[in-house]
Amino acid sequence: MKEGKRVRVAVIAGGRSSEHDISVASARSVIEALDPDRYDVQTIEIHRDGRWALGSGETRELGRPVAETLPVPTGSVPETLGQVDVVLPILHGPFGEDGTVQGLLELAGVPYVGAGVTASALCMDKDLFKAVCRDKGIPVTQSVTVRNGERPENPFGYPVFVKPARLGSSVGITKVGEEARLQDAIALARRHDEKVLIEEFVSGVEVECGVLGNREPIASLPGEIVAHGFSGVDWYDYSAKYDEGGMDLIVPPERISEEAAERVQQLSVEAFIASDCEGMARADCFVRDDGEVLVNELNTIPGFTATSVYAKLFEASGIPYPELLDRLVELALERHGRRSRLEF
Ligand SMILES: Nc1ncnc2c1ncn2[C@@H]1O[C@H](COP(=O)(O)OP(=O)(O)O)[C@@H](O)[C@H]1O
Ligand SMILES: [Mg+2]
Repeated sequence: MKEGKRVRVAVIAGGRSSEHDISVASARSVIEALDPDRYDVQTIEIHRDGRWALGSGETRELGRPVAETLPVPTGSVPETLGQVDVVLPILHGPFGEDGTVQGLLELAGVPYVGAGVTASALCMDKDLFKAVCRDKGIPVTQSVTVRNGERPENPFGYPVFVKPARLGSSVGITKVGEEARLQDAIALARRHDEKVLIEEFVSGVEVECGVLGNREPIASLPGEIVAHGFSGVDWYDYSAKYDEGGMDLIVPPERISEEAAERVQQLSVEAFIASDCEGMARADCFVRDDGEVLVNELNTIPGFTATSVYAKLFEASGIPYPELLDRLVELALERHGRRSRLEF
């Protein structure tokens, strides 16, 4: 970053996925935390129907009806993207966190925060992500993948978790207690993805860990998730994640050993490197009752409000939210500088 010159930032928010509103809340929080003396902020909102709208960077503009609509990928959005110093894609789920928007940003030749195209697509896909982890000896939850037209076979007994391969926020997920309910759970997951996972149930503690960096990523303190949402289920579902009072984050975790907590940090960084992530990710792990740690998934654009898990974990680790944003911008610029020296 040049001294004395404000960095021009474009925050992309919204998106086509069911996590649209969560993204808008995250983006608002980011915009409010970016120091106006250092950053010149512009917003780009992607509406649920896929239209892109330019904004001036005022948080109150987000979520309003479209004033100006732009087709993608032609029109003024890519031009505008090319005119900023760095883009913060604060988007969750398909068409935002899955490498699609990252691909557009690569084409526009502009630095952006977070994982690149391959890592974004890989981490979005719970089936492929686990295959890469297994290849590197990183322990993951066991699952079978059922594609469209295939007969589901459950080798694990019950309960199992049934989930779409590429979604988030617990949407489309069912904990299935008996065989008679398996088909309905698969049908629900199929509404969201052609690829569905049947996963062994892991009994233990859910622990999340923030990862930050490019070549030498660091882990935050881990945090224990205590879910008590309002929909009557005993796992970390949509209500537990987003309803006020639906969960508690305990940092450092209380119900696991110190060794297990260190193992969570170690595996989170290993999974981050194995999947080629850069910038940031939140690793979601299970610490089984026997103490073994499994990686469940990596979220390359985790919930990003100032009170989201990722920000809270780094806050507890000595990196407050505004500094986290500064670091992410620097990491984006560092990667761009490094990659722009490559010959293609
Ligand atoms: N195999 C499993 N064993 C126990 N709980 C699980 C399992 N898979 C998912 N869950 C529960 O469901 C939640 C959401 O599943 P997850 O795979 O993280 O999907 P998402 O991408 O929607 O967050 C987890 O946080 C956890 O509470
Ligand atoms: Mg999760």
